Amino acid sequence: MRLTVARVTDVSKSYRLGATTVPALRHVSLDVAAAELVALSGPSGSGKSTLLHMIGCLDQPDAGEVWLSERSTSALSSRALAGLRLEHLGFVFQTFNLVPTLTAFENVEYPLLLAGTPAKESRDRVASVLTRVGLSAKMHRRPDELSGGERQRVAIARALVNRPALVLADEPTANLDSVTSDGVLDLVHELRDQYDVAFLVASHDPRVLARMDRVVTVRDGQIVDDRPVHAARSYAVAGRA
Ligand SMILES: Nc1ncnc2c1ncn2[C@@H]1O[C@H](COP(=O)(O)OP(=O)(O)OP(=O)(O)O)[C@@H](O)[C@H]1O
Ligand SMILES: [Mg+2]
Repeated sequence: MRLTVARVTDVSKSYRLGATTVPALRHVSLDVAAAELVALSGPSGSGKSTLLHMIGCLDQPDAGEVWLSERSTSALSSRALAGLRLEHLGFVFQTFNLVPTLTAFENVEYPLLLAGTPAKESRDRVASVLTRVGLSAKMHRRPDELSGGERQRVAIARALVNRPALVLADEPTANLDSVTSDGVLDLVHELRDQYDVAFLVASHDPRVLARMDRVVTVRDGQIVDDRPVHAARSYAVAGRA
């Protein structure tokens, strides 16, 4: 049986906005299996980013539980949780969070240094993943010497270099041209095939949706649809009342 790399059970989350409370997620449950490619789709404001934040343990749910690689995160100390996140998760979020004083190469190398990967292997992996995202000629530039799309590609390379069990990505192809997007999606498939990396990707991009295994649709903070991608394609066009 395949390992479940992420599980949320009955998760609810609200944000406080002055005197009001905005419900962002309502009783959401979801499983992502090892090597599974899952898209999160749904209208703006439906709760996709909030769900990714809950699974990434960047924020805590008001109710319900988040499991990573079959361990409940609520039972872990903050140190154990930091270790689990480092080892198991890769993040590609809209604010790329690159370290401004480090070059592209050094930014991508950083998680490998933290994980104690041997230097030679580390250098080879960093160069290889940066080449795959089309940045071989610019790997020694700092983030402020790169365009927005190039910074996004550095963030993608950094999320993948550790070969985590699960990559959480929020609109990862939003600033990329179609050739680069296809290259990133090829790399996603390769990592899945070779290393069983699973991906949970919030995206509106039809190119992304078409190459996932499964599309989960979120609306008003709830999962309203969850189906294999071939059936989901016509659904995405048809919409839902
Ligand atoms: N920090 C916050 N404070 C208050 N409300 C928030 C906050 N973050 C999100 N929300 C609200 O929670 C709901 C879900 O937001 P979320 O960012 O998860 O949506 P989304 O599906 O990612 O949308 P998009 O496609 O536009 O990125 C929305 O109503 C949003 O306005
Ligand atoms: Mg969002």
